[in-house]
Amino acid sequence: MQIVQTIAQLRAELKTMRAGGKTVGFVPTMGYLHDGHLSLVQKARQENDIVVVSVFVNPTQFGPNEDLDAYPRDAERDLSLLRAGGTDIAFFPAVDELYPPGFTTYITVEGPMTQTLCGRSRPTHFRGVATVVSKLFNMVGPDRAYFGQKDAQQVAVIEQMVRDLNFDIEIVACPTVREPDGLAMSSRNTYLSQTHRAQAPLISQALFGARDLVEKGERHSAVVVDYLKTNIQRIDGAEIDYVSIADSRSLSDLDILKGDVLIAVAVKLGRTRLIDNIRIKV
Ligand code: PAJ
Repeated sequence: MQIVQTIAQLRAELKTMRAGGKTVGFVPTMGYLHDGHLSLVQKARQENDIVVVSVFVNPTQFGPNEDLDAYPRDAERDLSLLRAGGTDIAFFPAVDELYPPGFTTYITVEGPMTQTLCGRSRPTHFRGVATVVSKLFNMVGPDRAYFGQKDAQQVAVIEQMVRDLNFDIEIVACPTVREPDGLAMSSRNTYLSQTHRAQAPLISQALFGARDLVEKGERHSAVVVDYLKTNIQRIDGAEIDYVSIADSRSLSDLDILKGDVLIAVAVKLGRTRLIDNIRIKV
């Protein structure tokens, strides 16, 4: 595995490695890796000749009062997990490398897609994500890029950006990896107190209960939203940010469940904000 820190080194390594038309799979991450991230690396490994993983805690996607400084980091551990996962290039750039003094260009996916769900409480988040992902796409030039369905809105925003800006990259959305008790894996789960960690699986249980309702024939969003709110409000110390039922691709709200449906929630447990979702074809 090559460990590179500069864009020039990354481009030089890739030029040599991809000679002869080899395909490149790319997994962007913010590190503190867990099995969710590693499932993306594994899928990239299966489908491409070369696997590139970036680890970069992207400051532009954090709001002023968010957890940029507290975000968990462990480069040594990440490197050994990436090595074991069969990564060819691990890209660990410094902040100045991606955002040198004088940087002023941002990518904004406009409209409801970035203003609903997480965009409501995190108004500049997706601008930061779209900007860093498009920069990384330009540096790596992958054939395929791998994203987790855990961040369903991020997948929708990136797919929209790829369509609109004609990136010649296949976006591969991978299923959410969960802890044995159902909690969606996240680097932010480390913030949870013992009590909140014990309560957290009730969020995914509420989502699974909602899925059962839909599978039994319920088609009214209001009923499913009500079920979710009631069950999540029962969790000690939980504060609902949103409960949403939307079309998976456009993220527009659905009154009646139809097509490819995203049921998504964001919940604050203490000071930790957790997101989770399920996707159902109705
Ligand atoms: P990060 O939160 O580190 O996640 C990196 C990738 O791993 C994302 O595509 C995310 O959806 C995926 N992922 C996280 N938890 C997962 C889980 N439990 N199961 C499956 N996949 C999971 O998302 C980001 O970083 C950043 O916004 C980034 C795209 C790197 C841009 O900075």
